[in-house]
Amino acid sequence: MPEFSTAQVHAGEARDAAHGARVTPIYLTAGFEFDSFAQAEGRFGGEEKGYTYSRSGNPTTAALERRVAALEHGREAIAVGSGQAAITVAVLGLVQAGDHILSAQSIYSGTRGLFENGLRRLGIDIEFVDDPTDLDEWRRRVRPNTRTLFGESIANPGNEILDIEGVATVAHENGIPFVVDNTLATPYLLRPGAYGADIVVHSASKYLGGHGSTLGGVVVDQGSYDWAASPFEHLTGPDAWLEGSSYVQEHGAAAYTAFTRSVIASLFGPVLSPLNAFLIQQGVETLSLRVQRQSDTALAVARWLEAQPEVVRVDYAGLESHPAHELALRYLPRGQGAVLGFTLAGGIADAERFYDAVELFSRMTHIGDVRSLILHPASTTHAHLHRDLREETGIGDGLLRLSIGLEDADDLIDDLARGIAAVKAADTIVPDRIVRDTGLPEPIATDAAVAAGR
Ligand SMILES: Cc1ncc(COP(=O)(O)O)c(C=O)c1O
Repeated sequence: MPEFSTAQVHAGEARDAAHGARVTPIYLTAGFEFDSFAQAEGRFGGEEKGYTYSRSGNPTTAALERRVAALEHGREAIAVGSGQAAITVAVLGLVQAGDHILSAQSIYSGTRGLFENGLRRLGIDIEFVDDPTDLDEWRRRVRPNTRTLFGESIANPGNEILDIEGVATVAHENGIPFVVDNTLATPYLLRPGAYGADIVVHSASKYLGGHGSTLGGVVVDQGSYDWAASPFEHLTGPDAWLEGSSYVQEHGAAAYTAFTRSVIASLFGPVLSPLNAFLIQQGVETLSLRVQRQSDTALAVARWLEAQPEVVRVDYAGLESHPAHELALRYLPRGQGAVLGFTLAGGIADAERFYDAVELFSRMTHIGDVRSLILHPASTTHAHLHRDLREETGIGDGLLRLSIGLEDADDLIDDLARGIAAVKAADTIVPDRIVRDTGLPEPIATDAAVAAGR
């Protein structure tokens, strides 16, 4: 098996027989022409290999799928239109009404909204493990109808590191698969499959694409979970479309991807444009270079922030002071990623001063870009959450989130020094207001917040 940087430029490539194009062309076509009646019938019936319609498969998208699957050492991948689509498709390939999902508490707010608002409305029950580092809590909270465990390898934005091997053991003791969102780590820093994750999902909009231009998502089946011995009757039981046969009988180890591709991704339809697949694949080709550099710069930035008296906490697992540092050393020896949070002593007033003072950091919601970005989660991405839940999950009023890009570390630190200077100039560490409290009894994500991709 080639090393990572070789694989990121070569894995899964199919040479273009027609013209010898070295880069996978953008097959921007809705459908694919059939030579004959018999060929059309054979393609739809599955007896003949080939494409029919870009919602069910496209050569440019397939090239990206093969490459990401190879980088994760997975069996097969499905690429879709966004990270949210990837999580939706991955999970709906497993669960149905009446089933239960057990997730780490510290996950991306959009995923939380998807689970609490979107999936609950479909009759799927969701629960969050309060302390994802406590394997006994995971174990205790698995129910007879739990059908998947879910977590993020590096949690956005708190930098909690998931004990993937430990949670995978709990999942497998209970005969269920473990789904890991590996967006912040990327397969360059960590392959969750190496520690027992069965399905790995990505927002390809972040580091895989890497340039902040394109949304996409990928679901990778690691090939580790035995679908034939699973409790998933939609895979093991007779299926009308398969004339009474089952996905396991027809597709063996590929049962989950066959079902999820043809029934969930293709019929719900969150398709990835072939143009976006091309752009994401271009990004993947430089993934290791970007992520190594971004991680190294993030550590330098985190160390600098930690030394500022105006900063009371830095959430970066690469720092010795972070509670997940031991787990980070174990799971992320190459680097701990490039998303970090820091909390200003002066609460929202100082956060606002800091945020408005920076010139190089872009004020926006996104991560994994070549440009460095800054966000105030409590008033934006997490504003829809009940204040107590925000505080519990480490989203205080003084917290700012950074996504470190490819600029020089010194320039970034100079820019952050502008923020600190603005805080100092105000000469106060007393919060003069708090982020509004929704007063809602339950943590709940609004449709608008979720739709806005927060
Ligand atoms: C960890 C994580 N997963 C999933 C998503 C959703 O990705 P997308 O915006 O591509 O839908 C995000 C977005 O920020 C994320 O940070």
